[in-house]
Amino acid sequence: MTYNITLIRGDGIGPEVIDSAKEVIEATGVPVEWDIVEAGNIAMQEHGNPLPASVIDSIRDNKVAFKGPITTPVGKGFRSANVRLRQELDLFANIRPIKSFKGVDSLHQDVDFVIIRENTEDLYAGIEHMVGEDAAESIKIITRKASERICKFAFELARAQCRRKLTLVHKANIMKLSDGLFLECGKKYAKLYDDILFEDVIVDAMSMKLVQFPQDYDIIVAPNLYGDILSDLSAGLIGGLGLAAGANVGHDMAVFEPIHGSALDIAGKGIANPTSAILSGIMMLRHIGESGPAERMEQALDKVFENKDNRTPDLGGNLRTEEFTQKVIDKMIG
Ligand code: NAI
Repeated sequence: MTYNITLIRGDGIGPEVIDSAKEVIEATGVPVEWDIVEAGNIAMQEHGNPLPASVIDSIRDNKVAFKGPITTPVGKGFRSANVRLRQELDLFANIRPIKSFKGVDSLHQDVDFVIIRENTEDLYAGIEHMVGEDAAESIKIITRKASERICKFAFELARAQCRRKLTLVHKANIMKLSDGLFLECGKKYAKLYDDILFEDVIVDAMSMKLVQFPQDYDIIVAPNLYGDILSDLSAGLIGGLGLAAGANVGHDMAVFEPIHGSALDIAGKGIANPTSAILSGIMMLRHIGESGPAERMEQALDKVFENKDNRTPDLGGNLRTEEFTQKVIDKMIG
């Protein structure tokens, strides 16, 4: 059986890391027919729309997509194609595993937790306007429906992965209504999943605790913005954005992508770390039921990292993306 998977290579370092992960996936022997589509700036230039209907249709048909990062203009220009994609396909849960690699120099070792970020609302609802010339308003939307389903999803994942604790992050001391509602929904599900230890932590304190004691966490559930910020912070704990995978999951569709952006500062130089993309590919293979090949990819990465010479520049080494990719493939088939 051949899997049909939508492929969005993205821009910046997107094509470099996605091509690397694609090569590794193909080296496992899992048969994939890639449906290649464009989004972001390239699509904007070609179709006048950063997220053409063809992209949405392809993902609706295939149910699974593998995606590279897409640049979003800052302060002006088109609305984020990433945010639109998640909203239009109702990919309500963003799963971001944070796991340290043995042997990779990082602020912490033995880190293993998962951030579950609500993916469709909060300040990302995209509702903002000027109030006169000297003030601007962005509206933060938190609904019971979205909060309940993400909290339920997080508890389910905790059970499925045999994790013991769930930490809900909020700022309900200040945003008593919006974050208060998110917290209320978390507490509701905490009663229904009483085999999982539940705690809630205010986002500022959580930032400090994560930096000091990341080993204390198992599953973290957060509204969109806090989840976004905390996941980059968490990537920093284990060696950086080059090591953190992600999946956007809805009821019957999923889009797998590294958590990092298009990294324009290193784009085109052939030095991006493809590990986040490879890890996202591993999550994708597990999602489609190809656990064996996923396991082999994971073991190959571990073996590559055992040798301190096998590092891209972000981790202090001098391997190029292609060289690193080849080493992973060699370990997998060797
Ligand atoms: P970024 O994640 O692209 O880069 C932050 C820093 O991390 C840079 O110094 C970069 O070189 C480094 N870095 C990131 N990934 C790396 C990798 N695989 N290997 C080595 N170094 C890596 O964040 P930034 O610069 O804030 O965003 C750039 C653009 O990406 C923006 O337009 C942003 O909107 C977009 N973006 C897109 C995302 C997506 O498509 N899902 C997610 C995050 C940002």
